[in-house]
Amino acid sequence: MVCLGNICRSPLAEGIFREKAKEHGLKVKVDSAGTSAYHEGERPDRRSQQVGRKHGIDISQQRSRRFTKEDFAAFDRIYVMDIHNYEDVIALASTPEEEQKVDLILNIIHPGENRTVPDPYYDGHDGFEHVFKMLEDSCEIIVKEMLAQKPKN
Ligand code: 4NP
Repeated sequence: MVCLGNICRSPLAEGIFREKAKEHGLKVKVDSAGTSAYHEGERPDRRSQQVGRKHGIDISQQRSRRFTKEDFAAFDRIYVMDIHNYEDVIALASTPEEEQKVDLILNIIHPGENRTVPDPYYDGHDGFEHVFKMLEDSCEIIVKEMLAQKPKN
């Protein structure tokens, strides 16, 4: 889960996705990062922590880090929040296979529309709640898709 600062949107996406995976019994590694290092080492924005807590999701232990080229090898899917994140992440890809791992997270619920998860950094609490809801809808579908694709043993 990738955004610009890794303090508002992607920490929530990470927390929500982890919770949904747990709920549905999907074992998966999930992490988040920012395309910038502006907030490296910081906890998520207080407002993201609050909206998470309101919905039973604790993201307080997360720390901001920058997305690196190594993340392409470490993860099968890379979900970005907006088109700027997309361009910044794609610029670090070395192969078409790596590029194909990257998608806008809202394309999960609005296929092909390239919608943006709005940056709530300069908004009030309503912005964070709005972001929470759209991430929740997307994460629910991603988890179900992954479960459907899981090889049966
Ligand atoms: P995020 O939000 O990308 O959702 O973490 C932002 C946080 C900080 C800044 C921009 C966006 N900033 O410019 O410091």
